[in-house]
Amino acid sequence: MASTKEDERVGAATPLHSGEPGGFDGPASTSAKGAISGQQSHSWLTRKLPFLRTRRGKIITVIVILLIIGGGLAGLAALPKGNNNGGGSSGPNGQAGEAITDDAYFYGQSPDVSPSPNMTGSGTWKDSHTKALALVGKMTLEEKLSLTAGAPSRTGCSGFIPAIKRLNFTGMCLSDAGNGLRNTDFVSSWPSGLHVGASWNKKLARDRGSGMAGEFRTKGVNVLLGPVVGPAGRVVSGGRNWEGFSVDPYLAGSLVAETVSAIQGAGVITSTKHFIANEQETNRMPINDVQSLSSNIDDRTMHELYLWPFQDAVRAGTGNIMCSYQRINNSYGCANSKTLNGLLKTELGFQGFVVSDWGAQHAGVATALAGMDMTMPGEGLWGSQLSTAVSNGSVPETRIDDMVTRIIASWYQMGQDQEAFPSPGVGMPQDLTKPHKIVDARNSTFRQTLLDGAIEGHVLVKNVNKSLPLKKPKLLSLFGYSAKNPDLNNPGGFISPWTFGVSSFNYTEFQDSFIFNSASTPSSRENQSPIAINGTIYSGGGSGATSQSLIISPFDAIVQQAYEDGTALFWDFVAPAPDVNPMSDACLVFGNAFATEGLDRPSLRDDYTDGLIKHVAERCNNTIVVLHNAGIRLVDQFIEHVNVTAVIFAHLPGEMSGKALVELLYGRENFSGKLPYTVAMNENDYGDLLGPDFGRGGGRFEKFPQSNFSEGVWVDYRHFDERGIEPRFEFGFGLSFTTFGYSSLVVEKSGNGTFGEFPTGNIVEGGQEDLWDVLVTVRAEVENKGDVDGMEVVQVYVGLPSSSSGGSEANSESQKTPVQQLRGFEKPSVKAGETASVEFELTRRDLSVWDIEAQAWRLDKGKYVVGVGNSSRKLPLSGEFTI
Ligand code: BGC
Repeated sequence: MASTKEDERVGAATPLHSGEPGGFDGPASTSAKGAISGQQSHSWLTRKLPFLRTRRGKIITVIVILLIIGGGLAGLAALPKGNNNGGGSSGPNGQAGEAITDDAYFYGQSPDVSPSPNMTGSGTWKDSHTKALALVGKMTLEEKLSLTAGAPSRTGCSGFIPAIKRLNFTGMCLSDAGNGLRNTDFVSSWPSGLHVGASWNKKLARDRGSGMAGEFRTKGVNVLLGPVVGPAGRVVSGGRNWEGFSVDPYLAGSLVAETVSAIQGAGVITSTKHFIANEQETNRMPINDVQSLSSNIDDRTMHELYLWPFQDAVRAGTGNIMCSYQRINNSYGCANSKTLNGLLKTELGFQGFVVSDWGAQHAGVATALAGMDMTMPGEGLWGSQLSTAVSNGSVPETRIDDMVTRIIASWYQMGQDQEAFPSPGVGMPQDLTKPHKIVDARNSTFRQTLLDGAIEGHVLVKNVNKSLPLKKPKLLSLFGYSAKNPDLNNPGGFISPWTFGVSSFNYTEFQDSFIFNSASTPSSRENQSPIAINGTIYSGGGSGATSQSLIISPFDAIVQQAYEDGTALFWDFVAPAPDVNPMSDACLVFGNAFATEGLDRPSLRDDYTDGLIKHVAERCNNTIVVLHNAGIRLVDQFIEHVNVTAVIFAHLPGEMSGKALVELLYGRENFSGKLPYTVAMNENDYGDLLGPDFGRGGGRFEKFPQSNFSEGVWVDYRHFDERGIEPRFEFGFGLSFTTFGYSSLVVEKSGNGTFGEFPTGNIVEGGQEDLWDVLVTVRAEVENKGDVDGMEVVQVYVGLPSSSSGGSEANSESQKTPVQQLRGFEKPSVKAGETASVEFELTRRDLSVWDIEAQAWRLDKGKYVVGVGNSSRKLPLSGEFTI
């Protein structure tokens, strides 16, 4: 919550909680909050896992809690005393003084912005707004409130809003997630966000969006709980980075815009999430009397990095935004009036509604006043209590009207009032092991999109001795746990490894971290497995996992190809040090790097897989490494081994994984993926951002863990460029079977070439409308100089006058901008020997910096440097312009 007046308002909201055990009974205090969050997490748990309500479930819960408490006490005893942050960089003044126990200490760190702005019906929302006002006008208060909170249903939807039959409102099913519809049958496993990021293909992102949306729609899902642009990827080992596209805001923003408009074009509302600065899993939830982590961000970093892709999603019309679990500047994400009322609803002119992440509501009145419009998965702290708050004047009824208007307007905006929209949850049975109606949501029109999507997110980073493509090898030897399918692809009642995409991972570890939030200390993290050793992976784990009707593993597809070619195959997917037939034409080693919601990754490499690769490479002079990596994976233990001839980052391709890989390995398709992140040589090269902040080791902030984003905008390549660190593979890098040449750079200013310092336009969805005025156009030609066709990702980077290399003395250190920032990319397909022209439009926003005093995007006078090429460090064309 905005830690100022709103906290006081929570105090004023006593009627909301009076009489409840553990409810608020006065001004916000840590212990009261702890009690509420405990209560919240209990209902969240039992909703996610109803079996916990059974006797057996209760016994299991008690045992697990005792184990966790036991482990926790042991862990605490082992921690060094007096260390504030347990290894993180967080925690201002952490060492001195007594532990802070009252949230009031933090009041004012996140400014209060109120009142909550009403929906205006701007732009394309005019009609939906008018219709929504009319419908809401006919509702009783009770009906209105029924739209603001999740309700039980007989469906398997992640969240459900009941119908109001008398007004022909059909209700709403909200379901996970951004990479495909999870936890049901007859749907597809689409490539995950990171894989789409690695494809750098806007058209593909759009097609994938349409394909996914069709499946959600057929199943009767009104709100697709995705796409993800938060986490952005600040914490290199973040457990959910794979759900989003890229750590670069421009790349993520471009791909989220395509995704949102495609999904919504098919009539399904997108819930772009998690708003905002939700950068790590560790301490994401309150546990006992310890609050969620606070992401402490300055205004400029917020705008230039974290808000940027959300801005693109809002501009693309996203009908819903999900507020996040953690705190922002010490105010909870779903009660933060600065981020919700201020940034989202005022500055970005957001027209849709804000839903809480599941169980992320920790205050009643404060969340209503801060701009949250719907709580999930149950009533949380609203329901009848919100009704009391309206009658005692703590929440004006106009606020309720606006919540409901936004919800109903989004429903109209996507045409969900039409009869053609399937009834909510129609294809989402609660338990797939019980008889249910078959609703086959797959659409064969999108088969090629599934395959192309899988192909294009593979990134080739090493290929020597013409190792690839393979040419009808006589003998292939295959190694590694990630080549084959896990033994289980089967639902198991309401919840099972399958439900959360962890069939290849250790399920106990997953449960401990995802369900019981046990991974909040450095020691718990160290004990986690970095890999999914029981088979290959198609997505990461947790609510963003995918379900599938069919999966093709690398092994499946290689067997098929070997049959066609008459290739002999040997394999050993078990031994850490297998025997190797020295007559093998090539040896393929398959490993993975797993990541899941609820848990930050323990490491960026693992000795087991690296040992296996080195062992095979010692015995096979053509060792090809394929890593399914749900995040950055370091390769320095083997990359320079003379017998490691090819290395592929295979990311998370979805169900077509094996088929896509074989198309690439045998050269029927060309590699065209590029890294959407920087691969360092060593962990230390990422500086303080390698792991999550813990802030739990004692000291003043032990009950309020802190994460200071003091690195500002210097994450990933911005950090490597600034510090002159040589990466192993730079952002934007990826090999092809052909080579491309660049020429004919043209940089041209629009109009008469003079532009005002600040935008002057009205606020439309996404912000001031002239932020998207095209100020400069860049053109270039790219020639395919090899003898095979290929696609090339042509990238444009811009250094602003205030950049580190801009030499502008007028700018102080705090206003310095990165040496270069991605500001355009296109992916033409170029036939061997041919040339393609590409054009990029640089907008006012692309060329501006966020001015914290003016509270606006400022266009500086001075020299702008433009680089064009195929990675952040290979920019053969360079030009400049001045403003
Ligand atoms: C996740 C969300 C998800 C929701 C519903 C939460 O735990 O953070 O991303 O959409 O659950 O399953």
